[in-house]
Amino acid sequence: MTSILITGGAGFIGANFIRYVLQGDSAVRVVNLDALTYAGSLENLRDLPDATRHTFIQGDICDRPLIDKLLREHQIDTIVHFAAESHVDRSIHNPGQFIQTNIVGTFTLLEAARAAWCAKDVRSQKSEVSNNLATSDLRPLSSDLRPLTADRCSPTSDLRPLTADNCSLNSVAPRQRFHHVSTDEVFGSLHSHDPAFTETTPYDPSSPYSASKAASDHIVRAYARTYGLPVTMTNCSNNYGPYQFPEKLIPLMILNALEGKPLPVYGDGMQIRDWLYVEDHCEAIWKILQHGQPGETYNIGGDNQPSNLEIVRTICSLLDELVPTAVSGQRSAVSPQSFRAGLITFVKDRPGHDRRYAMDISKIKRELGWQPRHTLADGLRQTVQWYLDHPEWIAAIRGQGGYQTWMEKNYTARQEVSGQISKVSGK
Ligand code: NAD
Ligand code: TYD
Repeated sequence: MTSILITGGAGFIGANFIRYVLQGDSAVRVVNLDALTYAGSLENLRDLPDATRHTFIQGDICDRPLIDKLLREHQIDTIVHFAAESHVDRSIHNPGQFIQTNIVGTFTLLEAARAAWCAKDVRSQKSEVSNNLATSDLRPLSSDLRPLTADRCSPTSDLRPLTADNCSLNSVAPRQRFHHVSTDEVFGSLHSHDPAFTETTPYDPSSPYSASKAASDHIVRAYARTYGLPVTMTNCSNNYGPYQFPEKLIPLMILNALEGKPLPVYGDGMQIRDWLYVEDHCEAIWKILQHGQPGETYNIGGDNQPSNLEIVRTICSLLDELVPTAVSGQRSAVSPQSFRAGLITFVKDRPGHDRRYAMDISKIKRELGWQPRHTLADGLRQTVQWYLDHPEWIAAIRGQGGYQTWMEKNYTARQEVSGQISKVSGK
């Protein structure tokens, strides 16, 4: 692996991944393709370690000619695909953009990878053949305009699960890799006593976001089985950490609590997520690129099960400790644990809100020796501290187009529909 195309590298996880990669092997170069939607920002790419190995290209993953050009000119041998529309609430308001980016965009990248990596092998097979055949016999094969078919790309068009062995039979050199970054949300919602999701749990997505990610996962698998494209995939739980756009639960609560604004908890706040510190996610992907088996999927998660309310209360306590205010020592009747916990406000629930996610990460632990390094307590403390230390980043990100409009759209409507804002008692 020497030349990696990272899509969505100006977003939260992509930008963290780029930092992670640039801190490592100095032989690796990174091309970062990002459309700079509302969620992406060059602010996330300031002060990169060894920035000379990073090339930023503003562009859309649905733009096939652009991707073809990047794969060719930068001799890309690895694609790590983060780019997506990623916010469930926005997918409820505007599902079309999720279908376009998450499904059509992933398809476009797969097609470009297939053409670049498989066609190259077809050409080299072709030149071997040309040594033995008259030129006129080559004419049908030499037309690069014919659509790629399974048998052109892969001489062995069987449907055996892809392994390193039959991947090399399949004409794509195994050193190439398409890694698709997906989510635990494709599995749907668990009841409180259900076992955690494994890699073989059937898909059952609830939101336009998770349905679009599920669709893209299926297409990625189809490209492995049908064309022998050397793909790996990860389904990861909720990430948190530096550079997360403040529309997601954890950064939103940190910023609102700091400013003494209401902390809007959807429904009863007893929904459960499995939270992973973003750096641990980056490390897992890197391990998979190096040691993961083509054709395999790996679950990644933080091995924890807090309710949303617990997360918000922990953030409040951390802020009370790290940024004491004149009144933060006071424990009111409404919030005996924390001054800022008194800001917790229940608002109208998200439609189709998944109750619980839990990840069984035994496969990646067993096969690749990965496990999260950060506990939730440590990761949350580091995250709160990072937001406290980066007021200029917060100001720049919030100043970007549309942030305020989105906040009003999402939260004003919630309060209007619910009739009144109810404050939580601090149990
Ligand atoms: P994000 O929303 O912070 O970043 C997405 C990035 O993709 C942005 O920089 C945006 O500009 C870019 N982008 C969007 N549409 C594009 C397009 N058409 N062409 C090129 N770039 C485009 O998302 P994130 O939280 O960093 O998530 C990254 C990936 O990880 C996504 O695929 C998401 O589904 C997955 N994931 C996220 C989480 C999480 O908790 N955040 C958990 C599991 C999986
Ligand atoms: P979010 O960060 O949007 O991630 P996801 O929906 O992908 O899990 O939300 C995490 C949880 O927090 C989810 O159960 C919804 C809830 N939530 C709130 O209660 N209030 C909020 O303002 C937001 C943004 C999320």
